[in-house]
Amino acid sequence: MAGRQTPLAAPMTDEALFALRWDRGLRDLVGPLGRLYPAAMASGALIGRLRALLAGHWAERPVDLKSLDLRRDLNPDWFLSQDMVAYVFYIDKFAGTLAKLPDHIPYLADLGVTYAHMMPCLKPRPGQSDGGYAVMDYRAINPALGTMAEFEAACARFRAAGISPCIDMVLNHTAKEHEWAVKARAGDPAYQAYYRMFDDDTLPRQYERTLVEIFPAQAPGNFTYYPDFKKWVWTTFNEYQWDLNWENPEVFLAILDTILHLANKGVEVFRMDAVAFMWKKMGTGCQNLPQVHDILQALVQSIRVAAPAVICKAEAIVGPTDLVPYLGTGTHAGKESHLAYHNNLMVQYWSSLAARDTRLMTYVLSAHFPESFRHACFATYIRCHDDIGWAITEEDAAHVPPMSGPGHRNFLADFYNGSFDGSWARGADFQSNAETGDRRTNGSFASLTGIEKACDEGDEVALSLAIQRVLMGHALIASFGGVPLIYMGDEIGLTNDYAYENFPELKEDGRWMQRPSMDWDAVGTLTQGQTVAARVHAGVKHLLAVRKATPQLASDVPTRIVDLGDRGLFAFDRMADDRTVRCVFNFTDEERRISPWGLRLEPGMTYEELLRGGPLVLDDGWVVMPPYGRLWLRSGPRV
Ligand code: GLC
Repeated sequence: MAGRQTPLAAPMTDEALFALRWDRGLRDLVGPLGRLYPAAMASGALIGRLRALLAGHWAERPVDLKSLDLRRDLNPDWFLSQDMVAYVFYIDKFAGTLAKLPDHIPYLADLGVTYAHMMPCLKPRPGQSDGGYAVMDYRAINPALGTMAEFEAACARFRAAGISPCIDMVLNHTAKEHEWAVKARAGDPAYQAYYRMFDDDTLPRQYERTLVEIFPAQAPGNFTYYPDFKKWVWTTFNEYQWDLNWENPEVFLAILDTILHLANKGVEVFRMDAVAFMWKKMGTGCQNLPQVHDILQALVQSIRVAAPAVICKAEAIVGPTDLVPYLGTGTHAGKESHLAYHNNLMVQYWSSLAARDTRLMTYVLSAHFPESFRHACFATYIRCHDDIGWAITEEDAAHVPPMSGPGHRNFLADFYNGSFDGSWARGADFQSNAETGDRRTNGSFASLTGIEKACDEGDEVALSLAIQRVLMGHALIASFGGVPLIYMGDEIGLTNDYAYENFPELKEDGRWMQRPSMDWDAVGTLTQGQTVAARVHAGVKHLLAVRKATPQLASDVPTRIVDLGDRGLFAFDRMADDRTVRCVFNFTDEERRISPWGLRLEPGMTYEELLRGGPLVLDDGWVVMPPYGRLWLRSGPRV
């Protein structure tokens, strides 16, 4: 055999590659599609159309994206790397226009960003558009931001800088001005079947019995009557957002067609908006139904055939037991969303901070969440463009007596609207529901942690504490496991923007409070060291650099919550094969002196303190944690 060379495989044609990927995908497509659309699957029509749709988009896919596809096919867990850091921003508020966006890539790259979520940028309906979540044309860019050519160019620039572009894909509804809705309104039955429409209010009334209200103050009820075409339309969110009917396979194909069209423009991550609501069933809350997971798997696996470089993030802001399945459990394991928002981690951060008590956090995060997922991870965040819903159940609260669900939720709403005695926060109630007593909360990271108040009052001590709260939050999401999402301005401590109150089309929606414009003047002060922006930014940049240098913080490394028995501290272990990183956070405004035993450190083991750099230093035998301090302790190598 010596001297004989193994022949190289013939170069693979594009068609052959597609055929292989289709065969691979088919296994994971037939189950969900068969359950969702039994008739269309039984006839073979749906699968035939799906293959043709995918093949068409693959044939049109630009060659540089095809090479990215190949790279990610070889490394499908690329997004689980500790390198991943996301930045979330409105194009206009961050850069003005799409054309100017690439000028800011150096700023993002310097911070360590590898994933750029451009908030809603497809063409919205005119006037009120729920911040762009009422899309009128999914194939056009919002003209106020630029053109599709500029969008493609921006995506290419991001890609060249190693930053994955992400956009919102609104799946649950379209604007009532979308062409499908316009045709439906004009009486076309094929398009009426794209939505959920009723001739009278008999069924809507029955559904309403078990539905919750999303915007009880600004858009009460879940249905709207249109006298011009005499139909009731399902409108979960605002009147102008019409819920799509995912029981219709045409909707599945049409949305997938749109997604792949945008993927070929250079989108690498789709944020699947409001996915919990996609399927409806009488007598239920019409959220998180099993079919939603089938739809997501079918979309994700279809995308994997025609654009394997692309990943999907589920936006399901729901309770713990409903959240976990979005990352794939049971037959969906490893096949559903790649990412999902960890809203429970976010809520628990705010809850522990206000209560100076981590017991609920420790309980909830250990009781309801697995230590890792297959080919998937959370997107961790502290703030975003939306309000905070206090997703704390009665059952969970009961684990921390005498806490009650309603009592604690009320406390948190009061604390963060600033009315609770001793609160440092400057937030505001949102969508108070007189019937249920439910209140949600608006406010930016910096304003809710006390930066705004401390600055107004010129209180340096309070300001230092507030900055430490912010940095503790950033450290939490950078180490917990998952892709940290940094919401625009939170890396420089931007406070609430009250200007929205002056705009008639915005003033009804208090969420605009946490959507300030980027403060480039403040960015100009970063080298001065002493401004709020400089202090926060330096801290965040450092955290992210340490994260990147620490393979044990990759998202496929299991996270195990550690109950230290100290209600001021929250801790978890990142349990890599070679070493463990124990992350500890002091949720109180007091310095804590803790014995190594109190931190459950292994006797005789050496520990590196990753954030400070160097070995763990004891002070007279104690580990000292300043107010809101955080420790990332890496154990010595296992031999
Ligand atoms: C998501 C968005 C939110 C929007 C809603 C309806 O939850 O984050 O801003 O109002 O979907 O599209």
